[in-house]
Amino acid sequence: MIVLVGNTKGGVGKTTLAVQIAIARACMGRDVWLVDGDAQGTAAAAIQSRADAELAPAIACSLYDDARQLRTQVSQQGKKYDDVILDVGGRDTAALRVGLMLADVAVVPFAPKGFELWAMQDMAKVLDVITAERDGLVAYAVMNKAEARRASADNAEAANVVREIPQFTYLDAPLVDRKAFASASSSGIGVAEQSSPDRKAVAELERLMLGVFQVETEGN
Ligand SMILES: Nc1ncnc2c1ncn2[C@@H]1O[C@H](COP(=O)(O)OP(=O)(O)O)[C@@H](O)[C@H]1O
Ligand SMILES: [Mg+2]
Repeated sequence: MIVLVGNTKGGVGKTTLAVQIAIARACMGRDVWLVDGDAQGTAAAAIQSRADAELAPAIACSLYDDARQLRTQVSQQGKKYDDVILDVGGRDTAALRVGLMLADVAVVPFAPKGFELWAMQDMAKVLDVITAERDGLVAYAVMNKAEARRASADNAEAANVVREIPQFTYLDAPLVDRKAFASASSSGIGVAEQSSPDRKAVAELERLMLGVFQVETEGN
């Protein structure tokens, strides 16, 4: 399955989620290729830290800062892996569009802040362009850096706004703003692999995984 983690907005947690999703799939025994389509190479650097630490399971990783190269490599090499996780940079880049053309599923993280919700409207426009060209893309909107309080008005308001954007399927699997996500991802470690795992972070990621991969799991 090809999963793109993307949003036209930066700083929403694309790389964090791409790294966590890739590791979680690898830990389920899947052969995973993480493709970093952002010239900054943050996801590739995280997976390289994992490789340097010789952590198992190992994850294949490539960095392409050229959209054409990204397209040809993923379409030709992607079949060799069980899962391909694409992390593309912020803004409406060619890499984002290439990723959306190739992906089975798009995971679109957003933070529950007013100005970030505007970015979801931009992303919805990009999805319109893509769905005019292809069928079958499911775009999940996933709240990230949510407030920890269950009764958070910001979380609830943001969820309501995003639920109304027809281009997205709202996935009710928010990830809270937790140190565990930030520290684990930057060193290429899964939240479940940390020495004293943050149980809430682990549970949130599990819920996300179930949502993103549900169709496939049911089909298997
Ligand atoms: N759920 C989270 N909890 C805590 N920090 C997070 C979370 N998601 C992302 N971050 C932090 O927010 C910053 C931006 O995340 P990043 O994944 O690099 O975003 P993007 O790839 O969309 O630009 C990073 O410092 C990252 O560690
Ligand atoms: Mg990033």
